[in-house]
Amino acid sequence: YDNVSAFAAMPNFGAYVDDQSPVPKPPNKYASSFATKKLCIVMVGLPARGKTHIARCLERYLSWLGFTAAVFNVGNYRRMILGATQTADFFNPDNAEGARARMELAIECMNDMVSWFARGGLVGIYDATNSTKKRRKMVKDRLEAAGVRVLFLESLCTDPAIVEKNIVETKLHSPDYKDKDPEEAAWDFKNRIRQYDKANETVEDSENCSYIKIVNVGRQIILNDIQGFAQGKIVSFLLNSHIMPRNIYLSRHGESEWNVTGQLGGDPDLTVRGRKYAKCLSTFIDSEFTKEGKELPLVWTSQLRRTRRTVEHIPTMNLCWRALNEIDAGVCEGMTYKSIAEQLPDIAHERKKDKLRYRYPGGESYMDVIYRLEPVILELERQRGPVLIVAHNAVVRAIYAYFMNKSQDECPYIDIPLHTVFKLTTRAYGAEEEVFPLEIEHTDQNRTPESGDSDGGNDTPDKKAADHVNGLAESVRNATISRRN
Ligand code: ATP
Ligand code: F6P
Repeated sequence: YDNVSAFAAMPNFGAYVDDQSPVPKPPNKYASSFATKKLCIVMVGLPARGKTHIARCLERYLSWLGFTAAVFNVGNYRRMILGATQTADFFNPDNAEGARARMELAIECMNDMVSWFARGGLVGIYDATNSTKKRRKMVKDRLEAAGVRVLFLESLCTDPAIVEKNIVETKLHSPDYKDKDPEEAAWDFKNRIRQYDKANETVEDSENCSYIKIVNVGRQIILNDIQGFAQGKIVSFLLNSHIMPRNIYLSRHGESEWNVTGQLGGDPDLTVRGRKYAKCLSTFIDSEFTKEGKELPLVWTSQLRRTRRTVEHIPTMNLCWRALNEIDAGVCEGMTYKSIAEQLPDIAHERKKDKLRYRYPGGESYMDVIYRLEPVILELERQRGPVLIVAHNAVVRAIYAYFMNKSQDECPYIDIPLHTVFKLTTRAYGAEEEVFPLEIEHTDQNRTPESGDSDGGNDTPDKKAADHVNGLAESVRNATISRRN
């Protein structure tokens, strides 16, 4: 059954499930103007090699950059169609019934991915073991026939300790082992790996393909025939990323003089309350690090006075990035949202229609901010220790959107109040969040209906904004810790 023509002919094995694949959004201009050819990243490797982890990280990174990207995980099709009840024997290559079922599932998932590509998807990630040459040939032929370029991404582990850790960290919590004794589950999963290993073949040059091999979590990375814009982005991401959990602290600067007057941009100083926040932030960092006997985090700010002043009590050097400066409001710099609405109504109107893509005349759009933050994101991926970033509303939104996997469309509306620290912890399969509103009062005249952050109402903008901030602060205070992802 496991033959090339079965895959290439794309038979319909019965509609087990409706097509579950996401409806792709139209790609934004940046990604689509560089990457015109559809690409499928075909994951390769034995179980517990981090394929799903890598697939999800790439999906998040590429989506953040504006590619329409989606993961198609064959394991999820198995659980959805057959139920999560298979023991290791199901994966034995000599078990004809198991092999037939696995083939059908792979085809079902592939069919959905191909129709997703036909509807406008740009980078699909086919997440399965694809661990034999025969299977890879089928996958490649099928995708190339659909006009999709193929990149094999293989994860190899020669260190058994890595595999052992992965099993404990993720596999024992998998729906495959719900309510199972952990020892029994670990034994069965290791047995599953042995079954796959019987037929496993690493990717070879003779397969005439583009490939990336990641050996022992990136200790070695091997590249072959890498082509095109998207593949270049994928390589630079993989070269920089690692899997150690770490903390990233995000905060806006303390209240500035222009937060009080409601003016956009500029280089204003902190108010008295903003300076209080600077002290409070230093005490917070002290409680997280010094009191715990840990080294202080790296501190990154923008080049603007209000962020540098906000970290001035933290006794460590800070790195000032131009890329962390606030969105440039161009001709609107120094104006309030109210005066823009009165004097430049077209700008107010156009921005409200498409806040993500609207570029202020002479200034920037949110998309521009996202692209200029890419080196910051890669540098954050590379860092092994904690980092505190003190920046601005639009910039913190874009960084938060990356780590918390928020869509580009949501990004310009994410609620990032002043005087609040967001502590993100990176983990396998995503990040966790804790929110710490530090108890220093503030006014932020820009959190008004005119800013596009809310849809208006009967309250005065001021009161509405204040209620909004206080509401969040209150709920977080009550919960102490809030996890949103
Ligand atoms: P399966 O085939 O069973 O679905 P998988 O290969 O998709 O397994 P994951 O579910 O992604 O494996 O395993 C997650 C674990 O892999 C996490 O503990 C993560 O830290 C780890 N991991 C991430 N990247 C790598 C890598 N390059 N090499 C090995 N392990 C990795
Ligand atoms: O509130 C201050 C500010 O940082 C402005 O300088 C900036 O233009 C604005 O927030 C960004 O938020 P939005 O994109 O919601 O207008």
